[in-house]
Amino acid sequence: MAFEYIPPVFAQPGMVQQPPTLAAPGSEPGPLQIREMQEQDVDFIARMLVEAFSDKFEHAVGKSRMEGAVKQTAGMMGRSRHVWHRYRIALYEGRQAGAMAIRFHGDNAEEDFQCGEACSYLGCCGTCGLTCLGLGTTESSIRLGECYVDHIGVDASFRGRGVGKMLLERADFDARQRGCTRMFLWVKQTNRAVHLYERQGYVVVETVNGSCFLRCAMGSGDFYKMQKQL
Ligand SMILES: CC(C)(COP(=O)(O)OP(=O)(O)OC[C@H]1O[C@@H](n2cnc3c(N)ncnc32)[C@H](O)[C@@H]1OP(=O)(O)O)[C@@H](O)C(=O)NCCC(=O)NCCS
Repeated sequence: MAFEYIPPVFAQPGMVQQPPTLAAPGSEPGPLQIREMQEQDVDFIARMLVEAFSDKFEHAVGKSRMEGAVKQTAGMMGRSRHVWHRYRIALYEGRQAGAMAIRFHGDNAEEDFQCGEACSYLGCCGTCGLTCLGLGTTESSIRLGECYVDHIGVDASFRGRGVGKMLLERADFDARQRGCTRMFLWVKQTNRAVHLYERQGYVVVETVNGSCFLRCAMGSGDFYKMQKQL
């Protein structure tokens, strides 16, 4: 019987030794599962995102229109099947617990936003606010070999149980499967999630301070771009 010689890999200075990942995080038996988005996730994603990013939505549409923002987001997501492939849904003991959207180079499709629908739920001011929020959060320069974590949110009742960590691990896995070598995301400087990203290997590579446009669009002008080499 012939054996193939596999040379040992020695650690180099600065090299992070990663254990080989055999299965996609969230695909093995356990309380936490991760799957692709399905029709039944539309309402969950809409409500969870508006609640998880309530500071941005409140700034954009006003506190009294948050329920309208949920309905508008659900309507838009329901029509936007062409972007569902970006979403990964985390289930905790079978219940929808969190969601994440990741994007790769060339995936610039936009959600099916309808102004008339937005106006009916949010009024003209709320619709303008939401449009600005969309402009402020859109990332249009994802290079070849990069994976962009567009947004990640976990329902408040499931936070602190490792759901966010596993979603990020799944993002890394899916990105590697696509041949990517780098992950990146944007996060508000004061967001506690910065610690989670650091633990997952992300580092700050760019700092935006006091951007007037971002403050008007999102209520904060201070953001970090964080990046991770795979
Ligand atoms: C960030 C978030 C996705 C993490 O999900 P999670 O399942 O709670 O994460 P894990 O259990 O794997 O890890 C816990 C870490 O998440 C972060 N976290 C926990 N609650 C958080 C909250 N309310 N807001 C922001 N980050 C939070 C912290 O870094 C925490 O670590 P710490 O306790 O040492 O500070 C989730 O808290 C959330 O949806 N937050 C609101 C939306 C948001 O800020 N998304 C990130 C935008 S870039």
